[in-house]
Amino acid sequence: MRNRYPIKQYNPSFLETSRIDAWWIGPVLTAMGLVVFVFYSTWAAFQNEHYLWGPYLSPFYSPLLEYDWWPLSPAFLILWAPAGFRLTCYYYRKAYYRSLFLTPSACAVGGRPQNYRGERFLLIFQNLHRYFLYLALILCLILGYDAILSFSFEDGFGVGVGTVVMTLNAVFLTAFTFGCNSLRHLVGGNVDCYSCVSFGYQRYKSWKFVSLFNTNHMEWAWISLFWVGFTDLYIRLVSMSIITDYRIF
Ligand code: FES
Repeated sequence: MRNRYPIKQYNPSFLETSRIDAWWIGPVLTAMGLVVFVFYSTWAAFQNEHYLWGPYLSPFYSPLLEYDWWPLSPAFLILWAPAGFRLTCYYYRKAYYRSLFLTPSACAVGGRPQNYRGERFLLIFQNLHRYFLYLALILCLILGYDAILSFSFEDGFGVGVGTVVMTLNAVFLTAFTFGCNSLRHLVGGNVDCYSCVSFGYQRYKSWKFVSLFNTNHMEWAWISLFWVGFTDLYIRLVSMSIITDYRIF
């Protein structure tokens, strides 16, 4: 008897096939980006020199905490805060769970044997994210202040390439921080009924504003990560007289 409902064989298109074959590209690029940044920032922190030039201060060393009792680079007094913020970020968790630990590396792709049992035991430190957020908000203010100071040269007001680099750094880091899921929850995401709570309208508007950045949180995460490293590198190279800071104004 003829089958009224013959089973059609599914033939993936060329595009779908190449997507399936190339599933590893995303995790490899992500892992490379994270590893390069961790190596560079650790190396830069250990240098303990060339982090200042004229009105420019490397974001890895800001705020500059130089104390006699501290024997190491001042960067280590600062970097734990932004590092903790990024390490516990919801986006970065997904990125490094998938790329570095392959658990799994992509949707419907088999990775190494799965032992993932939720963020318990050692992974409970991920719950600290909201507290790192408070520190990150303070750092955004400090980096914004550094960016304003970068307009102040020995001969008065000016704009150098470093000024632009530092200003963009403050903008990108603020955009990344403003898109934080914890901040979104804090300003209005935890409210079920805006008209039933005090300042409901303002909280709704704040939630909408933060949501603008949250939509592209991954992009802001990578842009700000790259740019903060580039800002340190730029100031370092200028300070070492390898390149010259061009004065625009
Ligand atoms: Fe990414 Fe908070 S979720 S910074």
